[in-house]
Amino acid sequence: MKIAILPGDGIGTEIVAEALKALACLDLKFEMEEAKVGGAAYEAHGHPLPEHTLKLAKEADAVLFGAVGDWKYDKLDRPLRPEQAILGLRKNLELFANFRPAICYEELTHASSLKPEIVAGLDILIIRELTGDIYFGQPRGRRSSPDGAFKGADEAFDTMRYSRPEIERIAHVAFQAARKRNKKVLSVDKANVLETFQFWRDVVTEVHAQYPDVELEHMYVDNAAMQLVKQPKRLDVIVTGNMFGDILSDEAAMLTGSIGMLPSASLNAKNQGLYEPSHGSAPDIAGKGIANPLATILSAAMMLRFSLNQEGAAQRIEAAVKAVLAKGLRTADIYSAGTTKVGTKEMGDAVVAHLKAQG
Ligand code: IPM
Ligand code: MN
Repeated sequence: MKIAILPGDGIGTEIVAEALKALACLDLKFEMEEAKVGGAAYEAHGHPLPEHTLKLAKEADAVLFGAVGDWKYDKLDRPLRPEQAILGLRKNLELFANFRPAICYEELTHASSLKPEIVAGLDILIIRELTGDIYFGQPRGRRSSPDGAFKGADEAFDTMRYSRPEIERIAHVAFQAARKRNKKVLSVDKANVLETFQFWRDVVTEVHAQYPDVELEHMYVDNAAMQLVKQPKRLDVIVTGNMFGDILSDEAAMLTGSIGMLPSASLNAKNQGLYEPSHGSAPDIAGKGIANPLATILSAAMMLRFSLNQEGAAQRIEAAVKAVLAKGLRTADIYSAGTTKVGTKEMGDAVVAHLKAQG
């Protein structure tokens, strides 16, 4: 089991360290190698995704990723910005299926900005297509008007596109995931306006014929955004494109109380995967030791389950996380009156203590 460790920038290094502590008490043998990515790699090697980092990721069974980005890189040319590292990894490893579960833990029901009765017991799985759509469509760029009225560029454009095989494979992933849950899929699109997403709806409907035991519903993305805050518990598996999935998954994250709790998995057809918290590098709190490491620790659990075939170990980590929450330990992002505020390291130590007690 070979794991590439890519902590990245900001709080990335702090939270990945806690996940590594948890992995170390599982009595499993991992081959681990760490490399720089994002802004950290740009500083050290002049590129956010250096050749050796990409090679390491490609050769590993799984990648444990922290986060990338910092405001100080906003002025760099786009290909050198930290975000290009994660986009490059997704594209190069063909990590087309992004799983973003939004689970509201019982203990955190009151941390959500929504009323407790709306979110209590919430368990949604967003499946976001990750290597297509307007994120990667060509052509893209800037150009000046044909009559040359302006000196610089005076328009910019991106291309939204999906091919049939791209939609088919993510639809299969969604229907198969639904079979392991409540056999319900909601496909989110904008078929009323966009040709790309009318095609998406048509292809998802075709693939559905192979899954007669699963219920399929279609919804426009604007309505889906509304339903997510109106009655989120009616939703189960949501499958959507790259752009809509980016937006809806942040929205869903907020239902659960804190984005600091949400893991994610990005998989390719070989079940090789990249595992990262759903949140970013949070430069505003980097180095302060207050970031919530639980999303990364839970991402490590997803890694054990999906790429390393260690379901038992995954469940041990998840149980340890539930136990520390039940004990009342909270990082600042999920703190509420009557609970105990802890820092990043203390939270990681508490998870480790529970893992050791289980064993
Ligand atoms: C995410 C992030 C990325 C995305 C950025 C950092 C490129 O927002 O993983 O959701 O837009 O996909
Ligand atoms: Mn995002």
